[in-house]
Amino acid sequence: MASEFTGVEDVHKRLEAAGYLPDRSIETVVFLAERLGKPILVEGPAGVGKTELAKAVAEARDAVLIRLQCYEGLDEAKALYEWNYKKQLLRITHARGGDPGPGGEGGGEDWEEVEDDLFGEDYLLERPLLQALRHSGESVLLIDEVDKVDFEFEALLLEILSDFQVTIPELGTVKGTHHPFVVLTSNNTRELSEALKRRCLYLYLDYPTVEREKEIVLSRVPEAPEQLVDQLVRIVRSLRQLELKKSPSISETLDWARTLLELGFDTIDEDVARSTMNVLLKYQQDVEKASGHLKLPPRPEMN
Ligand SMILES: Nc1ncnc2c1ncn2[C@@H]1O[C@H](COP(=O)(O)OP(=O)(O)O)[C@@H](O)[C@H]1O
Ligand SMILES: [Mg+2]
Repeated sequence: MASEFTGVEDVHKRLEAAGYLPDRSIETVVFLAERLGKPILVEGPAGVGKTELAKAVAEARDAVLIRLQCYEGLDEAKALYEWNYKKQLLRITHARGGDPGPGGEGGGEDWEEVEDDLFGEDYLLERPLLQALRHSGESVLLIDEVDKVDFEFEALLLEILSDFQVTIPELGTVKGTHHPFVVLTSNNTRELSEALKRRCLYLYLDYPTVEREKEIVLSRVPEAPEQLVDQLVRIVRSLRQLELKKSPSISETLDWARTLLELGFDTIDEDVARSTMNVLLKYQQDVEKASGHLKLPPRPEMN
């Protein structure tokens, strides 16, 4: 049975149990969002744990995760619902008697009846937003990368988030019984509307502190020796100070830790860093810039 969070400390414990290490601001916002019944809008660079937060909240609340992945051109048909045209077409063909059913029935059916059928439940394709409204248990609705949709779609989202209901002309108004716990994420590629921001609790996720990133790496890659993790987290941190085209995120830190382990390194020297830098940085110009800045000891001479 899902239970409500009893306090900020409880949020912390349950997110941690779900594999997510929150900080104070994260756990406070999650707690308030539940109490106030408001969506959370999480903004920040790629790879800092925005999507993962929604997944962890779902796990912590024992709730179903319903995900709407946003992209340019996303429309109502893919986000809310659409009618199953193929199935409708088959039904129409059948009704006309063109293709009798297995029992030889069909043909000469009452058209009004057929029409009623065509826009009934059996022909409805539920998409994530409608699914979340109609879900009868606890759910977390993740609207991921909302900055990718256009303003028109944002307005539709706002309407649904305000009323938790939607009107389907052929079926009537669908009103959610359980309000989903809503998390919207944005990579900040454009400004979202004031109205949408006002509706939400705002959370900015930035790159973590050295301490917290260390904890995250140690929890996700438990085989990694602590002194290696300490060293790599500090190097990543220093790379983030440079003006790179794409700063390494937590995802890349984790990939780097796994790579170093895989290759059997337990300390990072200049050679190791140079030969594995492509895991952290995805642009040649960034790699070149970083190589100039890294002050690592050369590989010790073997004798
Ligand atoms: N606080 C955290 N605790 C545990 N793992 C985290 C945390 N933040 C980020 N991660 C890890 O970092 C990776 C990237 O997170 P993700 O949510 O996909 O980033 P975003 O959605 O912000 O681009 C995931 O693999 C996730 O496991
Ligand atoms: Mg994401």
